[in-house]
Amino acid sequence: MGYDNSHDLCSNLNQEQDSEFTRMTDKAVSRRGFMAGMGALGIGAFIGMSPIAQSVQAAMSASVKSKLIGFKPVPASTADSVVVPEGYKVTNLISWGDPLFDNAPEFDPSGKAPAASQALQFGDNTDGMSLFPLSNDRAVMAVNNEYTNVEYLYDHQGKAITADDVLKAQNAHGVSIFEITSNGKGWSVDRAGKLNRRITANTPMQITGPAAGDELLKTAADPSGVEVLGTFNNCANGQTPWGTYLTCEENFHKYFGSNDDAYAVPAEQQRYGIKSADKTYQWSKHDERFDLSQNPNEPNRHGWVVEIDPMDPTSKPQKRTALGRFKHENAALMIDSSGHVVVYLGDDERGEHLYKFVSKDKYIANNNPHNRRLLEEGTLYVAKFMAADGELKGKGQWIELTFGKNGLTPENGFNSQAEVLIHTRLAATQVGATTMDRPEWVAVHPNKQTAFCTLTNNKNRGKKDNQPVGGPNPREDNKYGQIVRWSPMNGDHTQSAFNWDLYLIAGNPTLHSSGLLAGSNNINPDNMFNSPDGLGFDESGRLWIMTDGKYSNKDDFAGMGNNQMLCGDPETGEVHRFLTGPVAAEVTGLTFTPDYKTMFVGIQHPGEKLKGSHFPEGGMSKPRSTVVVITRDDGGVIGA
Ligand code: FEO
Ligand code: CA
Ligand code: CA
Repeated sequence: MGYDNSHDLCSNLNQEQDSEFTRMTDKAVSRRGFMAGMGALGIGAFIGMSPIAQSVQAAMSASVKSKLIGFKPVPASTADSVVVPEGYKVTNLISWGDPLFDNAPEFDPSGKAPAASQALQFGDNTDGMSLFPLSNDRAVMAVNNEYTNVEYLYDHQGKAITADDVLKAQNAHGVSIFEITSNGKGWSVDRAGKLNRRITANTPMQITGPAAGDELLKTAADPSGVEVLGTFNNCANGQTPWGTYLTCEENFHKYFGSNDDAYAVPAEQQRYGIKSADKTYQWSKHDERFDLSQNPNEPNRHGWVVEIDPMDPTSKPQKRTALGRFKHENAALMIDSSGHVVVYLGDDERGEHLYKFVSKDKYIANNNPHNRRLLEEGTLYVAKFMAADGELKGKGQWIELTFGKNGLTPENGFNSQAEVLIHTRLAATQVGATTMDRPEWVAVHPNKQTAFCTLTNNKNRGKKDNQPVGGPNPREDNKYGQIVRWSPMNGDHTQSAFNWDLYLIAGNPTLHSSGLLAGSNNINPDNMFNSPDGLGFDESGRLWIMTDGKYSNKDDFAGMGNNQMLCGDPETGEVHRFLTGPVAAEVTGLTFTPDYKTMFVGIQHPGEKLKGSHFPEGGMSKPRSTVVVITRDDGGVIGA
């Protein structure tokens, strides 16, 4: 059902709270100056505007007015390098295959290295990451290794997969945890770090929460349904105030297949994209755990958020079923003013949904044994957005996904809370959640008044019955993406009612003189991009936006260049380009030192599909996913 014009769910909205949001939105709009009086985003501004007026507007937009943003924006780039503003420096911290231990072999670019080497090295395709400071010059980094590019992992490029090749790929997935040290001039990996650890697709993990032990989680190897091996396709992340790392399992469906051609994938697995064919990774050929015909429940044990203690290399990672099973992007965790833990969660697939978890118990400062159980129990909600026709703002409601409520009953196929959580997507459909344009990262503003989610793109919008055009998903065949922003009632993130608008609509204002394809008014020829994905705030409220889009630099995407990172000021609406990535790479993963003077950024899959990158080493070297370090020559705060 999804997008819905009805306002009936919002009848309980308090008028006073409503006008508070209106005041806040109006303030943001009026500070944009040139956008004053044009509504939340001033979309109407481009419509009917002359080309001269547009270029004047673009020129105005290009100059930095924000008091938060102090760098000189960089132009779009197609160079095979990371480009940062004048006065900034970029260095490499770690690349796929680099040793993580004293006894680990160096990276072997031949593609012939065995699984045992990869088990001791940094995994592939760096993604979400967090920093855990130990002192001013030492910290632990936890970094997701989302997936691997078979065209570079193997000398045969995936054409002749052996059992050791499967294990090698499994060892290239998961999470890399390692200590880094600073000598005052820069950060480097300490291979002797006592906390260094590789978590792979085979690391034993505990299943916790309402679904633990459910029939649907039991397998021949784990008849109790409480212990699972490994995590894979770890996309983005989260970090808790009690010192743990959250890694989020995204496209887990790609790793399963069936060696029995007669195996029929059940409908509830099809909803998650599970197929009996397994052409890319081919794990099911050599590891029966991934053979659906032998282990039909194994996929139910993946698609969760996993909590990891990076300070104890012997600790067992915990899969948190209370946060639902879907293709998790990140876990944007905050402590609400009520003391409850609120976690916002996107499900990255066309027409899937945006979720919120609220812990049952409250956070207690300095009581980590208590806090480490907070993600075991709570309430999961899914978002329903409402708007009048053509409006780019409106109201919304978080709908509870609790067994016995909102039609989540045996008549509709749900027999327990465990089933609601294991089949979260089906539950969201049952309650009429809004189908979204691929929810990627969520970020909560440090003032806790607003949260933002990147809706990266959606070629199915307007093409499938359950994905109507409208509300926060306003464009058919959405090529460029947008960022939705919401504000809970009373600033209380445990409330079910919220107001929303669009912070930006990406577009191409050089190709389209008006309308939604030109993008919102804060998009101009100097900052245009497509497919916002990674998202994060620094403590001052700068919104860092990373892209994972089309890098063809032609046709619909002409002038946008490679994937990039932008910096936004949510108060003024301004967006400026801060960094451009190398050829055929995605920019994803972001963390800072506590003083915000050092930024770590992930450069994922440079040269994917043999597209000719040699990042980071240049020459004729094999391209490698890399975490880069960005500092200012004058030692100042990044972005300021
Ligand atoms: Fe792993 Fe949705 O990106
Ligand atoms: Ca992503
Ligand atoms: Ca993406």
